[in-house]
Order: sequence, then C-alpha cells, then structure tokens
Amino acid sequence: MPRIIAITSEKGGVGKSTLAVHLAGALSERGLETVLIDEDGRVGSSLRWSQRGPGLPFAVLDPDDVKPKRLARLDAVIIDTEGRPRRRDLRELAGRADLILVPSGVSPLELDATQELMGFLGSEPGAARRSMAVLTRVPPVGHAADTAREDLRELGIRVANTAVRQYAAYQKAAEQGVLCRDVRDERAAAAWADLLALSREVI
Ligand SMILES: Nc1ncnc2c1ncn2[C@@H]1O[C@H](COP(=O)(O)OP(=O)(O)OP(=O)(O)O)[C@@H](O)[C@H]1O
Ligand SMILES: [Mg+2]
Repeated sequence: MPRIIAITSEKGGVGKSTLAVHLAGALSERGLETVLIDEDGRVGSSLRWSQRGPGLPFAVLDPDDVKPKRLARLDAVIIDTEGRPRRRDLRELAGRADLILVPSGVSPLELDATQELMGFLGSEPGAARRSMAVLTRVPPVGHAADTAREDLRELGIRVANTAVRQYAAYQKAAEQGVLCRDVRDERAAAAWADLLALSREVI
C-alpha cells in the first residue's frame, strides 16, 4: 500500500499546494510511483497547476477520479487540501493519512496558528506521531527557521529538519505549471534541493 501524506494548515496561503506539487515531484524524481490528489477545488489548487503547463511528471487527480485499486499499486499518495479544516474534517484526514504535514511560515502569527493545529492533532489518538510541521517560505538569509524549529520543538511539536526557503522559483513554477527545477531562475536548484531533502524525511 502507498504511503499517504496529507498536507493541511490552520491558515490559508501558507504554501500547501506548492509543497504538495513539489513533494510529489521530488518523490517521482527518486523513482517512487506517486500521485497527487487535489481535495481543494478552488483556483490556485494543484489540479489547476498541472493544467496550466506542459504537464507534471506525476498524475494529479480529482478525488472523484480516484480508483482505489490503482492507488494500491503506488508508493506514495500526496493529498493537497483546502486548509483551515473543520475539526471534523481534520479528524477524518488524520484517520486516513500515514503522515500529516503542516506547512508554516515563521512569523509569530503563523507559528501560533500551527501550534494550535498541532495541539489539536496531538489530542487525537495516534495522530501526534503522524504529524509534522514543515517551515516554509523561510527567508534564505538569517536564522529564522532554526529559532522557529527550536521553539516548536520545545512545545513538543515534531518539526522537519528541512526548511523550505522562500524563492521566487516556486512562484514562477506555479505560474508556468511546472516544478521549480524546470524554471529559469538562478535559485531554482537551491529551491529544488530543499524539496528533495524534505522528501527524504517523509519516505
Ligand atoms: N517556498 C516558497 N517560496 C516562495 N513563495 C512561495 C513558497 N511557497 C509558497 N509560495 C507562494 O505563496 C503563495 C501561496 O502558496 P500556495 O498556493 O502553495 O499556498 P496554499 O496554502 O496552498 O494556499 P491556499 O490555502 O489558498 O490553498 C503562492 O503565491 C506561492 O507561489
Ligand atoms: Mg492550495
């Protein structure tokens, strides 16, 4: 059975879809059979991302088009969500995912929101060790990620060692419907390296 990795957040616009698309891309590049299921039908979602460009190196599926038998043969299933989930939906997501990734910016407000969400997941039986915060849109210069990671860990929250730095290459990738490794940008390789490193922490 595939490893099911869901991506959710307390706030909108934190980088869920960017993370979902690139994580699926990184796993695919490593030779893992991966699909991305887009459970967020709005503009800016990963399904629209995949339709905007020449195609991504993995399938992006609408939940209605998912064939459970086909999923069983895969190595990984990434689920992109709408974010700001209702507690009931979060509980349901926690029940079917092997890992829940919670992207978070490093500003105090975003860290507070992440702490709240991780606190809820921590109160769900078994969900705490299956949840992990991922620091995203981290300024490439300075120590904001290290400080935020330490603060969250002191609260008993699991945090990925890899932080996803803030690079324009991700925005260009979204606009062009491709992965950041495929855009013309001098920081594209650095951006892609972050996602590859993160992918090794999850599978
Ligand atoms: N690491 C990053 N570096 C630079 N820009 C980023 C990064 N991650 C995300 N962004 C940008 O931030 C914006 C929001 O990202 P994204 O759409 O992935 O967030 P989201 O959480 O999926 O939003 P929503 O809640 O609306 O679904 C986009 O413009 C995206 O290009
Ligand atoms: Mg999104």
